[in-house]
Amino acid sequence: MPKKFYITTPIYYVNDVPHIGHAYTSVATDCLARFKKMEGFDVRFQTGTDEHGLKIQKAADKLGIKPMDLCDKNSKIFEDLTKMLNLSNNDFIRTTESRHVEGAQNLWDKLQKNDQIYLDEYEGWYSINDETFYNEKDLIKGEDGNLKTLTGSPVDWIAEKSYFFKLSEWSEKLLELYTKNPNFIKPESKRNEVISFVKGGLKDLSVSRTSFKWGIKTPNDSDHIMYVWLDALTCYPNGVGYLSESKNDLSDFWSETTHIVGKDILRHHAVYWPAFLMAANLELPKRIFAHGWWTNEGNKISKSLGNVIDPINIISEYGLDQFRYFILREVPFGNDGDFSIKALKNRINSDLSNDLGNLCQRSLSMVHKHLNGNIPNKGTLNLSEEKLIKRSEKIIEESINLMNNQKIHEYIKLIWNYINDVNKYFNDQKPWELVKNDIDRFNTVLNITCDLIRRIGIIIYPIMPDTSNKILKMINIDIKELSFSSINDYSVDGIKINPLSQLFPRID
Ligand code: MSP
Repeated sequence: MPKKFYITTPIYYVNDVPHIGHAYTSVATDCLARFKKMEGFDVRFQTGTDEHGLKIQKAADKLGIKPMDLCDKNSKIFEDLTKMLNLSNNDFIRTTESRHVEGAQNLWDKLQKNDQIYLDEYEGWYSINDETFYNEKDLIKGEDGNLKTLTGSPVDWIAEKSYFFKLSEWSEKLLELYTKNPNFIKPESKRNEVISFVKGGLKDLSVSRTSFKWGIKTPNDSDHIMYVWLDALTCYPNGVGYLSESKNDLSDFWSETTHIVGKDILRHHAVYWPAFLMAANLELPKRIFAHGWWTNEGNKISKSLGNVIDPINIISEYGLDQFRYFILREVPFGNDGDFSIKALKNRINSDLSNDLGNLCQRSLSMVHKHLNGNIPNKGTLNLSEEKLIKRSEKIIEESINLMNNQKIHEYIKLIWNYINDVNKYFNDQKPWELVKNDIDRFNTVLNITCDLIRRIGIIIYPIMPDTSNKILKMINIDIKELSFSSINDYSVDGIKINPLSQLFPRID
């Protein structure tokens, strides 16, 4: 039985349409999911939409429509985006679905039974934008004299009846969790931030609201709706039925969970979430990885600055795999990064068009021109050829290590070093001269180059699945299910290749 692996994106707020931040989290998670699948795991990948809370209700009110209508409309846009980004998700969960509502209420019941929830009154600051409560000491004064969050979100003073979760009781247990499982939060710098936040002291957390209605009713008291984060976080176990009364055959995935989130929502995932789960005697996810944020040409991305990047526009202008490659390669996963069209064009022209595109184009067009499209058989291999072939296995081994630590950019670098060395090999062999004076060596060089291209085509699949398919199609290799372990199982000897298609046109 293959081992299970469950990976999730955050579920996206439907008050607005998708932007590059959503596309980034999704594409990175997709790359990790596809990689694990290639490694031989039984992979489950979930994404979806976060549809309750004041933020959504206000957005609907502003448009003069019902919250549910806004949710239906925008959730569909996010679901369409999963197709546009070529995500391999097996589930798209919405928090307005009954399977989710049931699971969220079940978690509430468990917390209540374990005496983890009590009724009181909340008085304090709240950011509707982040759907988060703030201590005054964590806020700053804006130019208009009003308090705001460090990321610039306005806050409102609220005072209302509320149930509280006894978060303060969990500080020690959380610190113990972080110490015993040093890989629970990644990367290291983010882990340290969480630890110092928890060491700074945790207050009990308000987990219900009474001043508006757009949410999941608390099962014990219909005057309250659940705090949107408690509601939303349960989407992860709900997608595999782990919180349902009648567990299903997907529930085993829960103990193998990795959450990919942006740094802004790490606290909710690495502090509140494990505390809720421990308080309900439930199993914890294995890993929470926080990635950084993109700026746009050096500026913070914000609606008010009018510089929100629409991933759909970028994809239609530059291509999906070009976009996927750029966002995964440009910035070490976990760091902040800057999006610029200049940098995107550079990556397309140099890494994709020059390095990968040219390698395929130059060698395969020779097969067409001199060999009538038939890949020749090889003669005796020299040492460098044997080494290049073997290296593909080493790359896979090293990549598995890197990807277990979510080092997506390092995995890509490894492949591109390989591509460059294959290019160098091809150049050094000068097949355009061999064709005139040493046909045996010419045949061998072309056979080996085609085989190396086949290997590269397989290894890049998690990053650029379409390109991987195109490359394998060009060399006419039909692999039903791609896997790393079968990298040596195919031979290119004697294959009649297909007409070439240009992989990455250069951009001016
Ligand atoms: N609904 C919550 C998540 C609940 S999960 C139980 C939420 N949604 S969100 O739509 O606001 O954000 C989703 C993701 O987009 C977050 O991981 C966030 O970090 C990411 N990004 C939003 N803007 C971003 C950038 N400018 N750059 C990179 N990612 C950013 O939070």
